[in-house]
Amino acid sequence: MDKAWVLIGMMGAGKSSVGRLLADATDRPFIDTDLLLQQRLGRPIPQIFQVYGEEAFRDHETNILRSLEIGPSVISTGGGIVIRPENWDEMRRLGTTIYLRAPIEVLFERLETSKKKRPLLQSDDWKERLATLLEVRSPLYEQADLIIDVGDGDIDAGVARLADLLLRPVES
Ligand code: S3P
Repeated sequence: MDKAWVLIGMMGAGKSSVGRLLADATDRPFIDTDLLLQQRLGRPIPQIFQVYGEEAFRDHETNILRSLEIGPSVISTGGGIVIRPENWDEMRRLGTTIYLRAPIEVLFERLETSKKKRPLLQSDDWKERLATLLEVRSPLYEQADLIIDVGDGDIDAGVARLADLLLRPVES
């Protein structure tokens, strides 16, 4: 049976936008674990962090992954999904993991306007925080089955490249 394509990577890497476009281009359903979590708890992510704390958020994140059924979907995940080893078991159960890798300068630029929605970036030194998170998480992201460099700005070309790679018949 066809399995999912699971997108991982830092905040600002474009997992949701690439995921939606990829799902459209390949006629697969799109699933966003952050959205599911917000729907389940009935609150936006900053409030979930504020009210329940990060550990509880991570527990819900793992539960969401566990509740997903195997199928040919495109799954966009939250940037911190990679930090719990048990999440890797779930992501591998679901399908192929794909790291959307973007240079830190691109992440800085994109998050400048959208960092308000990211509870982990709520301080004046958010750039240092982001750089530390990237340093700590890079070796984890790099455990993905596929690594795709994004960030050149041309999202449609990136999606087309990715769809081509994923749909290409396996050479024997
Ligand atoms: C987080 C990334 C966010 C969201 C939460 C925590 C992280 O998702 O899950 O704010 O730890 O990197 P995005 O990667 O979609 O911003």
